[in-house]
Amino acid sequence: MPASFAALILAAGKGTRMRSARPKVLHEVAGRPLIQHVLGAVGALKPQHLAVVIGPNQNDVVAAIAPADFVIQRQPKGTGHAVAAAKSLLGRYTHDILIVAGDAPLVTRETFKPLFDARKRQPNAAVIVLGMRLADGGPYGRLILADDGSLARIVEAADCTEEERAVDFVSSGVMLVKAPVLFDLVGQLAAHNAQGEQYLTDVIGLARSKGLICRTAEGDPAELLGVNSRDELAYAEAVMQQRLRWRAMESGVSFTAPETVFLCADTKIGRDTVVGPFVVFGPGVKVGEGVSIPAFCHIVGATIGDHARIGPFARLRPGALLGTEVHIGNFVEVKNSRLASGVKANHLAYLGDSTVGEDANIGAGSITCNYDGVEKFRTNIGKGVFVGTNASLVAPLSIGPGAMIAAGSVITDNVPADALALGRARQRLKPGAAKAWRARRKAEIAARDAKPAAKGRR
Ligand code: UD1
Ligand code: MG
Repeated sequence: MPASFAALILAAGKGTRMRSARPKVLHEVAGRPLIQHVLGAVGALKPQHLAVVIGPNQNDVVAAIAPADFVIQRQPKGTGHAVAAAKSLLGRYTHDILIVAGDAPLVTRETFKPLFDARKRQPNAAVIVLGMRLADGGPYGRLILADDGSLARIVEAADCTEEERAVDFVSSGVMLVKAPVLFDLVGQLAAHNAQGEQYLTDVIGLARSKGLICRTAEGDPAELLGVNSRDELAYAEAVMQQRLRWRAMESGVSFTAPETVFLCADTKIGRDTVVGPFVVFGPGVKVGEGVSIPAFCHIVGATIGDHARIGPFARLRPGALLGTEVHIGNFVEVKNSRLASGVKANHLAYLGDSTVGEDANIGAGSITCNYDGVEKFRTNIGKGVFVGTNASLVAPLSIGPGAMIAAGSVITDNVPADALALGRARQRLKPGAAKAWRARRKAEIAARDAKPAAKGRR
């Protein structure tokens, strides 16, 4: 990679084809906005300057790109116009500027290698465009080469003749341009084209008319896909999922059915963890080593300790911090709770806003009642506590170490260490009452059924 270059990411477009109220670059792939994928890959190249062109009144985009520098393009008048907006920031820069579209979430650090390699071979070229070969060039700009193999011009799909449309070498939107040339030429762009926009791609024709040399490099289309519509977004998601699964398996994670597991860009899973079919990882998940996660679990914002067992059918929500060897069974939900090592909640429980000490056992159907309809409260469950089945633990509540909670209890008062708490009605026994009740019911039914028959004879 070259020592000196600046990077400019274009993200101010309207994203019309998404048909969305949300800026296009904030749509997500693998739980992360498109623009953050691009920023991550470009940032890894360590440019001397890194700036993003965004639209006006886009505080959410500013937040998503922080702490990156940005400039505002007041009106979305095209990619060339967007670059011109960056003149205030990069106008005095003298080396190359790497331009990348903010809607290409599959780029990685390596994606740009052919471009920088070409720059080494072509130090005099004013512009080098990273192209890609596609059997059907679809919406991409076609790269029209001169007889000497240099780049003559780029024609946008909407402006192509039939012959140009058939060209299988297209622009990825990524290019390396000498900064002084770039800002000189984008100032001269016209908008005489199908979309009435100032196309950055027209810089090539302009450069050539001034006797400057333009070149191409060839990149991997699987990494350079642009997202302009919902179906392209879904396609990018599918490609990214495959990449993330492969990366996890490479690092020692087993997936029984990888194609059914969904990961986020930030999902971290330790080696020898086995993930069953249909498990979904949302943002912010860290899983330790040797963890077992059988089928149908939904995990978001949770940290799972080594050798834990989660599911099947478990739901871990943000703030679930599970120690080593914790067991979370079917239909158990954990939110904003710290479970120390060895805690077991094996069936049908809810632990919300709680702290659970080592080796505590949470019985089937037991619930922390953390919400009174207005505020949320915490439940502290000590080390070694045994909570029987179907207990309602009404927060705020503290249960001391070693205490036992009887099944079916509604616990509203703190329980000291090693105490047994019962919070349920005492059982009564009536010998023979069931049999007597059945006899009475049978007699009632017989009497009722006899009446309509008498009516029928009249
Ligand atoms: C663009 C290229 C096309 C290339 C393709 C690669 C142009 C004219 N066309 O087409 O040759 O094959 O990318 O994906 O450059 N943007 C702004 N301000 C604007 C317009 C766009 O910042 O006024 C930003 C968008 O947010 C987007 C990027 O520039 O991130 C590209 O714009 P987009 O509308 O997606 O261009 P394409 O039609 O994909
Ligand atoms: Mg695009």
